[in-house]
Amino acid sequence: MDPTIRLRDAAAADLDALQRFVAALSPHTRRQRFFVPLAELPAPLARALQVSDPAHRFVLAESPQAAPGEILGWGLLVADPSGAQGELALVVGDRWQGRGLGRRLLVRLLGHARAAGLREAVIETLRSNQAMRALARRCGFQLQHHPEDAALLLGRRALAAAG
Ligand SMILES: CC(C)(COP(=O)(O)OP(=O)(O)OC[C@H]1O[C@@H](n2cnc3c(N)ncnc32)[C@H](O)[C@@H]1OP(=O)(O)O)[C@@H](O)C(=O)NCCC(=O)NCCS
Repeated sequence: MDPTIRLRDAAAADLDALQRFVAALSPHTRRQRFFVPLAELPAPLARALQVSDPAHRFVLAESPQAAPGEILGWGLLVADPSGAQGELALVVGDRWQGRGLGRRLLVRLLGHARAAGLREAVIETLRSNQAMRALARRCGFQLQHHPEDAALLLGRRALAAAG
C-alpha cells in the first residue's frame, strides 16, 4: 500500500478532473467499469456531482507523487430511494492498479454506506472481471448470477449498523 495516496470525498469543483480521469482510462478499464467503452462520465453522474446530490457519494484518490490535479482512482456510492440499499462502483487508473488502491476505495465506500444507515451494499461486475471478483469476495460480498444480464455478476453484502 502506498501511504502517499489519500482518499477524499469529491465536490462539484472536481468534475473537470474526474472527466479527465475517465477520458484517460484505457478502453479495457473503461469497459470493466461501465460495461460499455464510453469516453466520459455519464451525464446523470456529472449532474449528481455538480448539484451535490445527497444520494451520491464520490470518493477520489490522489497522491502528491502524481501530476498536479491527477486523480488515481474513483469510487461511487449511490443510495437507492428507499434508503435501504446502496450500489457501489469503483475504478483505479490503469497505472495505479494492483497496489491496494481498489481495496481502500471499496472499504471507504462500505464505510460511507454503513454511516448512511444503508442495510445492504450491492455491486455489479462483468463475469470476466477476475480482479473485481477477487476484491469483492475479499470484502465480504457474495457473488451470484445477475437477474438481468448473463454477462454480469451481482454482489451483495449485508451492512451492520454504524456504531
Ligand atoms: C477492480 C479494481 C478496482 C481493483 O483495484 P486494484 O487497485 O487494482 O486492486 P487491489 O490492488 O486493491 O487488489 C485488491 C484485491 O484484488 C485482487 N486482484 C487485484 N488484481 C487482480 C487480478 N488482475 N486478478 C486477480 N485478482 C486480482 C487481489 O487479490 C487483491 O487482493 P489481496 O489484497 O488479497 O491481494 C481495478 O483493477 C480496476 O479499476 N479495474 C477496472 C474497473 C473495474 O473493474 N471496476 C469494477 C466494476 S465496478
